[in-house]
Order: sequence, then structure tokens, then C-alpha cells
Amino acid sequence: MDALDALFEAAVTVRHKAYAPYSGFAVGAAIRTPSGAIFAGANVENAAYPVGLCAEAAALGAMIAAGEREIAEILIVAESGDAIMPCGACRQRLFEFARPATKLHSALPAGVTTSLTLAELLPRAFGPNSLRS
Ligand code: THU
Repeated sequence: MDALDALFEAAVTVRHKAYAPYSGFAVGAAIRTPSGAIFAGANVENAAYPVGLCAEAAALGAMIAAGEREIAEILIVAESGDAIMPCGACRQRLFEFARPATKLHSALPAGVTTSLTLAELLPRAFGPNSLRS
């Protein structure tokens, strides 16, 4: 299995564990780090709707909990009419641990449909370098 297939499998598997009773929209995310490790996360909704957590944020939390700090590649999967794209807040969350050229793959349960870079997702971003004078 190649690296992208492994990322896809991890995202599809974790997506089945999503807690999305309010939207009915289950999302899986899987991050590969330069070490080769994969960290997965699913969305976690809440009766207090705005408190819900996106799959990307859950995967990032797992990556940080393991002591890792860099995203090599990320894949998100959902059953979406359009290719699923990360929300604005998650673009910012991902940018913190990615490079402009880092790839995000968007997938349907049948496979990856679109790949693009963090720079394309969040052009002219405010990031860690913005805080340096
Ligand atoms: N959601 C994600 O987990 N990731 C995305 O990239 C887009 C949206 C979740 C949030 C909410 O639980 C559900 O999908 C519907 O918006």
C-alpha cells in the first residue's frame, strides 16, 4: 500500500467513528508527519452546536499529543456533493503546522478527487512568521 492509500484508509476508518448526530455529516481526517506516522481524527459534535470539533482539529490534537509538530500531508474524507474542503478555522489550524506547499487531499468514500496546497487554501495567511518583527 502506498503512502496516500494508507492515509486514505486511516481517514475512511476514523470517519466511521465520527459523532455527528446533528448534521449527519461524518468527516474523517488523517495527517501524515515526516516521521511517517499517521494521526487520524473525526468530527465530534455537541448539543451546544458551536462547541463541535472538526475532524481536522481532532487529527491535529492527536498529532500534538504524540509530540509531533509538522504535517507532511493531510487527507480529509466525507460523503459530499462537492469535494470537501476544510472550513476557514481549520485552514488556519492546519497552516500553523504546515508549509505553503503542503498538500491537502480531498476524498469521497470512493477515493481522492482533488489535491491542493495549503497556500491555495489559505493565501496570504497570517501565520507564525507574521508574529516576528
Ligand atoms: N466538518 C469537519 O469536520 N471538517 C470539515 O472540513 C468541514 C466540516 C464538520 C463540522 C460539523 O460537525 C459537520 O462537518 C458539518 O459542518
